[in-house]
Amino acid sequence: MSAAFYSHAKLYDLMFPGGGPAVDFYRAEARRQGGSVLELGCGTGHKLIPVAADGRPCVGLDFSPDMLAEARRKADERGVAVEWVQGDMRAFDLGRTFDFVFITANSLLHLHEAEDLANCFRAVRKHLAPGGRFVFDVFNPSVRLLADADGVRRTRESLSFVDPDRGEVSVDVEEIYDASAQVTRGTWHLSTDTEPDFVVVPLEIRSIFPQELPLLVSLGGLRLVERFGDWSGRPFTGQAPVQLCVCTAA
Ligand SMILES: C[S@@+](CC[C@H](N)C(=O)[O-])C[C@H]1O[C@@H](n2cnc3c(N)ncnc32)[C@H](O)[C@@H]1O
Repeated sequence: MSAAFYSHAKLYDLMFPGGGPAVDFYRAEARRQGGSVLELGCGTGHKLIPVAADGRPCVGLDFSPDMLAEARRKADERGVAVEWVQGDMRAFDLGRTFDFVFITANSLLHLHEAEDLANCFRAVRKHLAPGGRFVFDVFNPSVRLLADADGVRRTRESLSFVDPDRGEVSVDVEEIYDASAQVTRGTWHLSTDTEPDFVVVPLEIRSIFPQELPLLVSLGGLRLVERFGDWSGRPFTGQAPVQLCVCTAA
């Protein structure tokens, strides 16, 4: 579940500042659907706080108390009402249904076993109101990129950031792809000039390949009705960066 990775919520937000087309996409989808919204794996609320700011009743569920605390702090600061719930997306019962449920930014890929994914989809189905829609995005696995995960530690220049307390922070990652599990097992190192490796945490992310995706969704009583390949709504192709999936009850 990579819990340690998400115990540094403020650093997470500095490394991944959010915003951009994914926020616009989910705001537009929530507006189009109307009604209540549930995000699973909501993190620090990058998408959910803007959706709630549009005046929709929103619930955000996440496993990490640290990510939720930061989400709550940011929503309160902006005067945005969201109900934050600590829970596991594989097994939760909120006792009500929602018109729009979403899981974004590869949060789903923290579930590695097919059974975990099926349990999550079953829980989503149970929380979907009649006529409701479930939307999620996961990356589209590139065999070339997976093969590049060779265990060598490399700096990710695009992820470096400035921490107001520490100064310039560089991010190094070493990854190995476990093909039988379809999981990329990584170790992330955060360093400053004076504090090398002040954070060292594992992060393990599954790949969901295009042909297995609709089958996994169907195990939860859901049906994949549309799959886009980017945030502008282009159809999904083999080269697309993401699988942006729209599902309804089966
Ligand atoms: C990559 S972050 C994405 C956060 C947010 N959706 C966003 O767009 O910024 C993944 C989130 O999924 C959460 N997560 C991982 N496994 C989970 C589980 N089994 N149940 C609930 N949340 C989980 C993590 O705690 C983390 O906050």
